[in-house]
Amino acid sequence: MNKALLLSLLILVSCKPQLSNRITVSSPDQKIQVELKLNEGLPQYTILADGQSIIRPSGLGFRLRNQPDLAGPFQLVNSNTVLINEEWEPAWGQENLIHSISRKITLELKEELAPYRQLNLIFRVFNDGVAFRYEIPEQADLDSLFILEELSEFNFANDGKSWWIQGGHAFDTYETLHKVSPLSEIDSANTPLTYITHNDFYISIHEANLTDYAGMTMKKSRVDSLSFTSNLVPWPDGDRVKTSAPMRSPWRTICIGRTATDLLRSRMILNLNEPNQLPDADWIKPMKYMGIWWGMHINKYTWVQGERHGATTENTKRYIDFAFEHGIQGVLVEGWNKGWEDWGKDDALQFKEAYDDFDIAEVIEYAKEKHITFIGHHETTANVASYEHQLESAYSFYDSLGVSAIKTGYVGAIKPEGHFHYGQWMVEHFRKVVKLAARHHISLDVHEPVKGTGIERTWPNMMTREGARGQEWNAWSEGNPPDHTTILPFTRLLAGPMDYTPGIFDIRFDRYKSDFKVHSTLAKQIALMLVLYSPMQMAADLPENYENQPAFKFIKDLKVDWDETLYLEGEIGEYVTIARRYEDEWFLGAIANENAREIEISIDQLIQDEMIAECYVDTDETHWDSNPYPIWIGSYKVTPSDILNARLAEGGGLAMRIRPISKDEMGQDFVSISELRLDQGVKE
Ligand code: NOJ
Ligand code: CA
Repeated sequence: MNKALLLSLLILVSCKPQLSNRITVSSPDQKIQVELKLNEGLPQYTILADGQSIIRPSGLGFRLRNQPDLAGPFQLVNSNTVLINEEWEPAWGQENLIHSISRKITLELKEELAPYRQLNLIFRVFNDGVAFRYEIPEQADLDSLFILEELSEFNFANDGKSWWIQGGHAFDTYETLHKVSPLSEIDSANTPLTYITHNDFYISIHEANLTDYAGMTMKKSRVDSLSFTSNLVPWPDGDRVKTSAPMRSPWRTICIGRTATDLLRSRMILNLNEPNQLPDADWIKPMKYMGIWWGMHINKYTWVQGERHGATTENTKRYIDFAFEHGIQGVLVEGWNKGWEDWGKDDALQFKEAYDDFDIAEVIEYAKEKHITFIGHHETTANVASYEHQLESAYSFYDSLGVSAIKTGYVGAIKPEGHFHYGQWMVEHFRKVVKLAARHHISLDVHEPVKGTGIERTWPNMMTREGARGQEWNAWSEGNPPDHTTILPFTRLLAGPMDYTPGIFDIRFDRYKSDFKVHSTLAKQIALMLVLYSPMQMAADLPENYENQPAFKFIKDLKVDWDETLYLEGEIGEYVTIARRYEDEWFLGAIANENAREIEISIDQLIQDEMIAECYVDTDETHWDSNPYPIWIGSYKVTPSDILNARLAEGGGLAMRIRPISKDEMGQDFVSISELRLDQGVKE
């Protein structure tokens, strides 16, 4: 945690102005090339990987209000290329050290004709993709700038299978299932937009460091084509970005791999963000947490005070006791504050007033005695105007009680009307809250957020967010089909940690009707705790559903802040297997879509000595729909030369902890892991 920047090295390769009209910049490993050109003065970029076209010549620039377009014709005034080679330590994350190597080129352009405005284009070419941003330098008459449109084109060279959610500001939610279609059939999409080309390039388009700007979606620019342009989310008056020179746009990112797991390995988005602003923040604590939460979603409890009120002093103490007993570090409490009955009315939710049956000071004191983090909650109902009035006092209130983490939520349409969750005004609101929270030493878990763009590198108290269709949809909708969680790692999770809230053990819970269910096996629910990375990871079920459940041991043992992560295998929408190391222990999670899957993993990638593997996996009889509960749990001896063979059921999973042999176990006979596959078929 809070480790300082290790090494930052800039090697100047060339700063000699090159005034030719075509410049090629290669990734450090030479596999990716960006060609930059002024085509009759109009800037264009082209991307090639392994010698093959990825993005055909695509234009750049802006449409501005009360000004001519800032899109050329330009002349090149100066260009400069540097190699950036640095290593840095994230405050928390999937590994403890990140290496970033890229070539960066800055093109300084000036209009050929009056008013001779300047625009800089900056490209970074990494081994795992390309990023570009605009910079409008300080200059006369540009102290107020209203961007009507960003004219970044993405003229994709190849069609392919794509996974996407609807874009365009009318779709003011990320909480939809992914559509799967040829890239050519998309009309508008949000990012990350991921696709596989026919010649086996795995590509994902997104953005990095979304700051003081509107979120970017993509729209088709010509019907029946592979040509897209950026489509920024507008202000109520139609402007997309209100700014002034000097300004810098976020980075547009094109991550390029040859396998699906290459996308998971990429740290380009984090590498494009600024270094940690909070280097000594030991109050930022990665943790597993539980909460008075799922109970409301399955209608066992209510947020509102009444007979079935979830957030009572007594019930919260019960959660705290359970968390304490099982090594879970945090307890979230939703519905403790007054106003839930007035949902939708202005200033309904009172962020400092507790319902009569909830004594917040007593509960927090109780949590402190047991070293449990009380996670506060602000449901804003997206009434951001009202929330902004209360911000200072609401954060000071939690701070005064010693609360160090808050979950926020923005359900519904933004007020003031006409704003969208991903427009510039909201991007600025979300950042204001992150900074305010940091001043109060509070970490955040944001629901209905703006998309992740890697700002957790800079503001590590921005720990996790929802921003996709999470577990909650299983409680009250037709549910998330089994392939949903095999798509998320390759789409939404590329944008950063997600608070999916896995770990439901009571898969066939009672609600209004009996047909509500989690579309998963029990083994997959625990595997998801590892696969879907979040530094605040929720074990989402009720304590009574974990009581006496042997599979809960995996959740108790699991870590959330890792030294190393290996992405062992995966195909988008089909399966993924991930191994994460903390000190000398490995944790492995594998999940499948609706099809069963035999996996085969060489253990020598993970260990050098004989160790013990604690396995949790579907049996041969398990099926997400007809028989979700059977789980085989066993401890095996594992050596580097072993191959892990296992069968994931339809909608199933495998979770495994590989740990050193304890002193007590020395000399004991353990069955070899090569027997695991046989055991999965055993009838108990
Ligand atoms: C939606 C959030 O995603 C969910 O986690 C929360 O319980 C409800 N809003 C109420 O705030
Ligand atoms: Ca939500």
